[in-house]
Amino acid sequence: MEKYVIRGGNPLKGEVTVSGAKNAAVAILSATVLAEGVCTIENVPDIRDVFTTLKILSELGAKVRYINKTTVEIDTTHLVTTTIPHELTCNMRASYYFWGCMLARYGHAKVSMPGGCDFGVRPIDQHKKGFEGLGAVVDIEEGMLDVHADHLIGNQIFFDKVSVGATMNVMLAAVRATGVTILENVAKEPHIVDLANFLNSMGANIMGAGTDVIKIHGVSEMHGTEYAIIPDQIEAGTYMVAAAATGGDVLVKNVIPKHMKPITAKLEAMGVEVEEFDEAIRISAPNKLTKIDIKTLPYPGFPTDMQPQMAVVACLAEGTSTITEGVWDNRFRYVYELQKMGADIKVDGKMAVIEGIDCFKAAPVKATDLRAGAAVVIAALCGDGETEVEDIYHIERGYEDFELKLSSLGADIRRIEVPDLQISAAI
Ligand code: EPZ
Repeated sequence: MEKYVIRGGNPLKGEVTVSGAKNAAVAILSATVLAEGVCTIENVPDIRDVFTTLKILSELGAKVRYINKTTVEIDTTHLVTTTIPHELTCNMRASYYFWGCMLARYGHAKVSMPGGCDFGVRPIDQHKKGFEGLGAVVDIEEGMLDVHADHLIGNQIFFDKVSVGATMNVMLAAVRATGVTILENVAKEPHIVDLANFLNSMGANIMGAGTDVIKIHGVSEMHGTEYAIIPDQIEAGTYMVAAAATGGDVLVKNVIPKHMKPITAKLEAMGVEVEEFDEAIRISAPNKLTKIDIKTLPYPGFPTDMQPQMAVVACLAEGTSTITEGVWDNRFRYVYELQKMGADIKVDGKMAVIEGIDCFKAAPVKATDLRAGAAVVIAALCGDGETEVEDIYHIERGYEDFELKLSSLGADIRRIEVPDLQISAAI
């Protein structure tokens, strides 16, 4: 196992380049299954979830080849199975995109229920509703989701809840269905639009992605393509928050400023100086920040995946801030870790009330999930001594070269090997 050792106190300064969007990449790479051909995907982030997705593709029979660190060539002409083993899906939520892709191409998929970050209950009823709306039969037995259909027929489907995963998954299933599918009450995140653009580049016919209604005209076949993934909104936001929390001055490059609006608006409201360029945003925070009130919502609301990081910068702001989690049942597990570092946070149901403190205290903490891990690292960068962060494998699922990018901004952060505690049977 590895951990980070971080000595706080250095304001982050300099330039950092954002990688491709994790939550677009895992869907787009899975979607290559829809074509009997070769896809070349650029700006693929070098992260564990991408590696897992590519491993699943290889298990299915695809030929996967890295052209360089961020460009992957995938040949899905000959796939050999429609079943994906548990050990490949148990650690990654996004493995469920293979349900929609395999259903569309083969009329069948048998995939174990997905893993992923623990935010409480993570149902899949809206995925099931969408597949059944297209004429599929969905069975869940022994932890496997078995979905099959003799023929997928376009239909009108209204999601009871706005769901990124269900929107993407049903779009994947519908692109090769017979007839027209109308999806309503859909998610509008940037990665939804990116997936739709990718599918259209493969010959699909999708309109309205990024709005409340997506219209899909089913096509009989799709082909390989070349495509570049959009920059990661959440990675960019994480470095913006780290710059603000440490009182630094950082140019975050390779961003789409429009995607960052919900985050820049809240940072500016706290007194952070934000300067926007065509493909970059400069963040500086020379003065003490002021309190903020945030409620996380589906895009274009404030993104839930930035909630833990914003809690850290709120801890260092003047006054009392509130953060309300509007998407997940329980996304405050990281609070206990921040409290070990001296944070004054009280959680009552879906709301956290945060009193400003002067500085975090160094303490041994752990990453409880991907974004929570990024948050405790940011707190450690602002700490008064040396903090050790364990379970960093969570962080490396979604952040490319995290400690290298932070070091390049002046952070004192080291990644070290932790010997596994082998408790001998003799004890
Ligand atoms: C995606 O998860 C992201 N993961 C999450 O990011 C992100 O937090 C989430 O969307 C919301 O933006 C990936 O894209 C791989 P949802 P997903 O379906 O698709 C409920 C990260 O840090 N719901 O939009 O699983 C659900 O319980 C990760 O990168 C149902 O009720 O989220 C939740 O309350 C963490 N039934 C809400 O909808 C369903 O069938 C939103 O979930 C599906 C979801």
